[in-house]
Amino acid sequence: MTRKVPMGAAALILAAGEGTRMKSALPKVAHRILGVPLVRYVIDAAHTAGCEQVVVVTGHGAETVEALVGAETCVRQEEQLGTGHAVMCAEKALEGLTGALVVLSGDSPLLRPETIARLVDARETSRAVAVVLTTTLADPAGYGRIVRDELGKLAAIVEDKDLEPAQRAIAEVNTGTYCFDAGVLFEHLNRLGNANSQGEYYLTDMIALFRAEGLTVTDVATDQPEETLGVNSRVQLAEAGKVMQRRINREHMLGGVTMTDPELVWIAPTVALGRDVVLEPMTTLMGTTSVADGCVLGPDTRITDSVIAADAVIDSSVVVESVVGEGASVGPRAYLRPGTVLEARARAGTSVEIKNSVVGEGSKVPHLSYIGDATIGKGVNVGAGTITCNYDGVRKHRTVIGDGAFIGSDTMLVAPVTIGDGAITGAGSAIAKDVPAGSLGIERCGQKNVDGWAARKRAAHGSDE
Ligand code: UD1
Ligand code: MG
Repeated sequence: MTRKVPMGAAALILAAGEGTRMKSALPKVAHRILGVPLVRYVIDAAHTAGCEQVVVVTGHGAETVEALVGAETCVRQEEQLGTGHAVMCAEKALEGLTGALVVLSGDSPLLRPETIARLVDARETSRAVAVVLTTTLADPAGYGRIVRDELGKLAAIVEDKDLEPAQRAIAEVNTGTYCFDAGVLFEHLNRLGNANSQGEYYLTDMIALFRAEGLTVTDVATDQPEETLGVNSRVQLAEAGKVMQRRINREHMLGGVTMTDPELVWIAPTVALGRDVVLEPMTTLMGTTSVADGCVLGPDTRITDSVIAADAVIDSSVVVESVVGEGASVGPRAYLRPGTVLEARARAGTSVEIKNSVVGEGSKVPHLSYIGDATIGKGVNVGAGTITCNYDGVRKHRTVIGDGAFIGSDTMLVAPVTIGDGAITGAGSAIAKDVPAGSLGIERCGQKNVDGWAARKRAAHGSDE
C-alpha cells in the first residue's frame, strides 16, 4: 500500500548528468520507457508518495528535460561538479523547507512510491538527519559502498573509484536515494569538499560528515533490488523497460484483464483498463488511452491517446487520438487518425482510413475507404472503395452524409458536399454536387454493350494459351 508522507515533504530529482554511456543526442533522462520519459517516472513516484513540492536539477540538455518536466520547478546546474553540487544548486528553490527532503536520481524509473514513503517514515521514527536507501548486489562494481562501524551502524559511503582494496568486496551499496532533514542538510552542505579521485562534490560524503558532527544517520534496505536499477546504457534501458512492462501488466491482470501473452503487450503507465478486456499479442496501448469493460484489442494493434468504450473490438489496427464507441468494430488493418469518432456499434472495416470525422451510430465503412473531414449520420452504409475528396490542394472541405444514406461502392465525394438523409449514390460516381434527401445521385457515362465483340476479338487474334 502506498502511504502518504507528511505534509510539506519535498523531493529533489537529480537529472543534470549527460549519460555518456547512452551514446545519444538526447539527455539520458529524456529517453523513454513505454512512451514516458525516465524523469517523469521519478516525478510521478515522488508525487504518488505524497511529496508536494518537486524540484528537478537540469544541466545537460536542460531545455529538452525542462520541456518534459512540465509544471515542476527546475533549477540549472550549469557545470556538473557532482551530486553534492547538484543539491547546492537547489538551495534557493527549496529555501524555507525544514521538513523531509527526498533526493532521487532522474535515471531510476523503477523506484516505487512505497519505498520513498518508507524512507520518509524511517527519518521520522529514527529522528535521523539522513536516511539512505541501500541494497545488496551480487556485482557491486561501480556503486558507492555502504561502510559500517563496529556496531554495524552506517558510517560512510565510499565511491567505487575511492575504495580501499579491502572495501571492494562490500556488496551493500548506496542506491542514490535518500531522505534528509532539509534544514540540517543545507546548513552543512557548504562543508563538502571535492578532494577525491573524480574531483567532484559527492552528496554521499554528507554521511561521514554528519557522523563526525554526532548527528544520527541511518539506512533502509529495499526488499526489491530491481527497483533501484539505474539506467546508464541502452541495455539497462531495455532491462528497466522489461521490469516496468511486467509490473504494469501484472497489475492489469490482477485487475481483471486477460492477456494471451503478457510479454507481447505494452501498456503505458497512464492507460486505464476496465474489466474483462482481452489483449491479444502485439498490442500497444500508449498515452492517455482508456479502455472500458469487455473490449477485445489486437492482435497487432496500436492505440494512442484514445477512448475506447465498452465491448469494442479492434483487430490489427492503429488508433490515434480517437474515440471508439460502445460495441464498435475496427479492422483488420484500419487506421483511425486524430479526431475520429466512431459512435456506438459503428464499423471501420478492412483497410479503412478515417480522420477528423464522426461516423454515426450503427453506420458502416466496411472496406477500403478514406473518410476525412466528414460527418456521417446514423445507419449509413458507405460502400467499398469510397473516398472523401476533402483536399483541393489548398484547403480541406467537409463532407456531410445524412442518416440512413447509402453510398454506392467507389463513390468519390468531392467536398464540400452534402448527401441528404436516406439519399443513395450510384456506384462509381464522382459526386461534386449536393444530393437532396431521399434522392439518387449518379454520375456515370451511359454504358454501351457491343454484341459479340469479345468473341470476335478472340477469333481474330487467337489466344496465347
Ligand atoms: C551515485 C552515487 C553512488 C551510488 C550511485 C547509485 C554519488 C557521488 N554517488 O553514483 O554512491 O551508488 O549513484 O546509482 O552520489 N547528477 C547531477 N549533477 C552532477 C552529477 C550527477 O545532476 O553533477 C545526477 C545524474 O544525472 C544522475 C544522478 O545525479 O541522475 C547520479 O549521478 P551519477 O553520475 O549517475 O552517479 P553515480 O556515479 O552513478
Ligand atoms: Mg548513476
